[in-house]
Amino acid sequence: MGRVLAQEQEMISDSNVEEFELTAKDFKYIQWFMHKSVGIFLGDRKRAMVYGRVSRQLRRLKLRRFSEYKELIENDENERMLFINSLTTNKTDFFREYHHFEFIEKVLKQEWREGGESHLRIWSAGCSTGQEPYSLISSLYVSGILESCEDISLLASDLDTTVLQTAKTGVYSDESVETIPDMYLRKCFVRGKKQQQGKIKIKKGLQQFIEFKQINLLDEWPMDVKFNLISCRNVMIYFDRPTQEHLIRRFHQYLKPNGILFLGHSESVGSCADIFHHLGHTIYVKQ
Ligand SMILES: C[S@@+](CC[C@H](N)C(=O)[O-])C[C@H]1O[C@@H](n2cnc3c(N)ncnc32)[C@H](O)[C@@H]1O
Repeated sequence: MGRVLAQEQEMISDSNVEEFELTAKDFKYIQWFMHKSVGIFLGDRKRAMVYGRVSRQLRRLKLRRFSEYKELIENDENERMLFINSLTTNKTDFFREYHHFEFIEKVLKQEWREGGESHLRIWSAGCSTGQEPYSLISSLYVSGILESCEDISLLASDLDTTVLQTAKTGVYSDESVETIPDMYLRKCFVRGKKQQQGKIKIKKGLQQFIEFKQINLLDEWPMDVKFNLISCRNVMIYFDRPTQEHLIRRFHQYLKPNGILFLGHSESVGSCADIFHHLGHTIYVKQ
C-alpha cells in the first residue's frame, strides 16, 4: 500500500535540483523501452514521475547516472524486471467500480444458470495487488454462483512481480477494509490476530479458486481455455490506441460465445465496437 501512496505523492514532491543525471536521450530510451516491452506509453509530461521512480533504483544500486543503470537493465533480467515494476501504476481497491459486481450477482448469475454454464472461467487481467480477483471470488460466493457451479477457476495475472507477490499472500491492512461492504467482510474475510492484528485476509476456501500468474499482456498468453468473463480494468489507459485495439481483439478471441468483458471507467472498446455489444457501465458482450 505504501508503494501506491508513494506513487501518488511523487508528482507533488518534484524538486528543481536533480540528484541523478537523466538526459533527454535517457528519457527517450525509457519511453521507447516501456512501450516496446510492456505497452506502457509514457508521455513527455511523465518525466518527473519517471525521474522519481528511477532515482529510487539508482539510490538502491548506488549509481550516479541513468546510463550506468541502462547497462544493467539490458544485461540483467532481474534488474530489468525491477525497473519495469518501478514504472507500473498499481492503484486498486476492493470492490472498485461496484456496478461490475452487482452485474455479476444480478445479471450473470441468472444468465449462467439459464445457459446451464457449470464450468466457469474468469480472468482478472492486470490484477495488481489482488483486490480485484478477491472481490470477484467474494461476489461469486455471496451470490451463490460458486455453490451452483461444478467447476470455477479464476486466473489473476499481472506483469509486475512485486504486486503479484502481495496478491498471492493476500494479507491487507486496515485501510483496505474501508471499501469492502459489510456483508462481504463478514462472509468472505477473516481478521488477523496477534501479530496480524488490524489486518484482513480472504478465507482460504475462497483463495483456493484463484491462480496467480505473471503474464505480460503484450506477450504470448499461456492459457488454452476460453473465458466466460474477462476483467481488464484500468490497465489499458496506460497503452496507446493501437496497443489497446490489438488487446481488445485478443480478448475477443479468448472469450466464449456471449462472454463478458469488463473495462475500467475511462476505457472503451474504441474501434472494436463491431465485435462487442455495449451494455453500459463499461460492460461488453462478445458478438
Ligand atoms: C491501475 S492497476 C489496475 C488494477 C485493477 N485491475 C483495478 O482496476 O483496480 C494496473 C495494473 O496493470 C498492470 N499492467 C500494466 N501493463 C501491463 C502489461 N503489459 N501486462 C500485464 N499487466 C500490466 C500493472 O502492473 C498494474 O498492476
